[in-house]
Amino acid sequence: MTTDSTTQRREVPRADGPGRAPNSTEFEYSDGDFERVRRIIYEEAGIKLGDSKRTMAYSRLVRRVRALGMHRFSDYLDLVEKHGESERKAFVNALTTNLTAFFREPHHFPILESYLAPRHARRPAVIWCAGCSTGEEAYSIAMTLSAASIAGGAHILATDVDTNVLETAERGVYALERIENLPHGYKERFFLEGIGRKAGQVMVRPEIKSLVTFRQVNLLESSWPLRAPLDAIFCRNVMIYFDKPTQYAVLDRFAELLEPGGLLFAGHSENFTQGRIPFRSRGRTVYERQLGRGSSPYAAGRG
Ligand SMILES: C[S@@+](CC[C@H](N)C(=O)[O-])C[C@H]1O[C@@H](n2cnc3c(N)ncnc32)[C@H](O)[C@@H]1O
Repeated sequence: MTTDSTTQRREVPRADGPGRAPNSTEFEYSDGDFERVRRIIYEEAGIKLGDSKRTMAYSRLVRRVRALGMHRFSDYLDLVEKHGESERKAFVNALTTNLTAFFREPHHFPILESYLAPRHARRPAVIWCAGCSTGEEAYSIAMTLSAASIAGGAHILATDVDTNVLETAERGVYALERIENLPHGYKERFFLEGIGRKAGQVMVRPEIKSLVTFRQVNLLESSWPLRAPLDAIFCRNVMIYFDKPTQYAVLDRFAELLEPGGLLFAGHSENFTQGRIPFRSRGRTVYERQLGRGSSPYAAGRG
């Protein structure tokens, strides 16, 4: 072990290099520090970090501690808690899990298409993609609706709490291998392929991009920048990170925005059939908005 006199940082062998001992950390990281991380991310984004996420939280946040030239993990948490609007944003961005893919859980897209196909063209169909991560889900919806030529057109509002992923989403540029499993003909129809320095990349065509607006929205915020009626909401693999009271509070608010009969698409491991909710399950994690308000089986609604 060495002590760096310029930084006063305690240099402890790390698990990720030669001669580094397993389960040790560069900065001291106590149970109390982890409890603070858990509390802050729950308050900021509703994300419940289980005990098993202790190391994950450290390894994601330690980059910020280093980048800011800080010497103690707890000093970093002080900064997040007391002083830093912008650091709070970086903190949330670091702790979100952004795994996504084009046409993930592909059975949902034909369901959306057949729900919207018979509609009258009184207005464009409006779909909210909540927790859109790097944009693949929103563009998958846009491609589906464009291919189906939905009467009246469609608009997709795609939102996430994480500002980093939204920048990627706005760019609409992806590695070629990410679009390997698209429906037949979609690659040629909806993407431009990079050449020269951009070889190996694809860009979503402008006509698909123009169907999607990206915006930062935290689902915990007390007001959302959307107006009823929405035709469908995709909120997949997002509420899995929330506790039950938060999930049911968000579900009630989704119901207020959806047309009666409108559809909510959830992720494969999200199940909202417990208690009275303003939705009827249509199977395969698709829920239909019912008339009348539901009531959460949990008393303390957040959000
Ligand atoms: C695992 S990704 C899911 C992406 C996409 N919906 C899918 O199923 O492929 C979860 C996303 O939810 C976002 N998220 C987490 N908490 C959120 C909150 N409170 N408000 C809005 N988005 C949130 C994360 O930033 C992340 O991008």
